[in-house]
Amino acid sequence: MSFNIAIDGPAGAGKSTIAKKIAKELGFVYVDTGAMYRAMALYFLRSNISNEDEQAISRASENVEITIQYENGEQQVFLNGENVSGEIRKEEVGNMASKTSGYGQVRKKLVELQQQLAKKADVVMDGRDIGTVVLPDAQVKVYLTASVATRAKRRYDELSEKGQECNLEKIEADIEQRDYQDMHRENSPLRQAEDATLVDSSNMSIEEVVAAIKKLYEDVC
Ligand code: C5P
Repeated sequence: MSFNIAIDGPAGAGKSTIAKKIAKELGFVYVDTGAMYRAMALYFLRSNISNEDEQAISRASENVEITIQYENGEQQVFLNGENVSGEIRKEEVGNMASKTSGYGQVRKKLVELQQQLAKKADVVMDGRDIGTVVLPDAQVKVYLTASVATRAKRRYDELSEKGQECNLEKIEADIEQRDYQDMHRENSPLRQAEDATLVDSSNMSIEEVVAAIKKLYEDVC
């Protein structure tokens, strides 16, 4: 049986940075599920479908094939055969993903893919519903969070570093809106699984968070 580590939490809590490091250190595969929702969202954006039109989104979902490959250990996401790993990082795509990820048809498609990946290999998988819905039997479950101000500042630094123009207040407002949407949707809302360990990274370094999660892994092994 494969070993699964589930990391859930709100946008900008550092899930992907942490999950990637843990996967590398343990020799596990890192699965970024947000990237899959982003790739679907990119398809809807390109097709000019309104994020409020659930019927059109459900219909369009049938034409979307999301596949995952690994290049030098880095997850690459393909949308109908096209590598969209760079393009899906835009804020516009993240905001669309936050809206369209609430629809049942979108989730059904991606949850199946995620479960298949976790069956095949030892994974560190991050997202919003991994511990609650996708991998309810994961051996280690973490709910990773941080204050809104901390998360907004981190996202601001990350975007500035890439040379992208950004505004801290706008990022903070987007994060709050995304949190609200992710936590209040009907399908698989973001919440801490009962058996997940809460890690608040507001005042922790990346290394401290990695060490805390590795300790949880070692305690189970
Ligand atoms: O984590 P990331 O910001 O890349 O995710 C983009 C959006 O995808 C989130 O705002 C969330 O709405 C959605 N998502 C989800 N379930 C997951 C992962 C991401 O609904 N497991």
